[in-house]
Amino acid sequence: MRIYIEKNPEDASQKAAKLVIGLLKSKPDAVLGLATGGTPVRLYRELINANARGEISFKSVETFNLDEYVGLSPRDKNSYRRFMDENLFNLIDIDKSKTHVLDGTASDIAAACADFEKSIALAGGIDLQILGLGSDGHIGFNEPGSSFDSRTRLEYLTEKTIVDNARFFDGDKSKVPTSAITMGIATIMEAGKIALLAFGGKKSDAVKAMVEGDVDESVPASVLRKHPDVSIFLDTAAASKLSPDIYREILSAPRD
Ligand code: PGA
Repeated sequence: MRIYIEKNPEDASQKAAKLVIGLLKSKPDAVLGLATGGTPVRLYRELINANARGEISFKSVETFNLDEYVGLSPRDKNSYRRFMDENLFNLIDIDKSKTHVLDGTASDIAAACADFEKSIALAGGIDLQILGLGSDGHIGFNEPGSSFDSRTRLEYLTEKTIVDNARFFDGDKSKVPTSAITMGIATIMEAGKIALLAFGGKKSDAVKAMVEGDVDESVPASVLRKHPDVSIFLDTAAASKLSPDIYREILSAPRD
């Protein structure tokens, strides 16, 4: 696990964007795993700008999103399909038919999950998976207690996640869907590279548990310590609860 601590989310996002841009330059038909939420928005802005400058193209890129709320149609303003269209896909030269976001209104969720897994395999697997981090330690919507062997499936959201996400639903937690379809932990772990971003003091406990705690299903993100190619991009607030020894070790590691 390589950990980068930058002074603010902008710098950390720029650093993460370099990783994505480097991949797309060396592999223009890369398969990207994408995340939603407040965290990746700055990273997506960097990618949009790089695309506008002509530095990278998404024409041959295929994408798979981590998750979608159950019950929200792709047109719903809070659906993750809408989020991706508005924050990235509509602003780059990607072929929308190559962007896969699970459908929260699928009548047969198990079949939709199986199809999603099949499509990832058909695309040759995910080269780089982008992740945010829940304040409860979730990745995707794999909540605490999710099996490390889990695949794409239906998952119920914890109270913490519902409260955290109420800000996108007029601050009203009763409007937040209580379940979602999410890529599984085993699915995520099959990606060739993983980049996790976490910003702000609200994530500091989850960051500490992910980096320093036991590798345990009670902290889904801790599984990343078993992956051979993970980069973690933090701002100082998200890194603030790391123990001084670990913090020093990160800051003294060779930087690229
Ligand atoms: P956030 O969510 O980016 O909106 O903080 C992260 C997550 O839940 O994975």
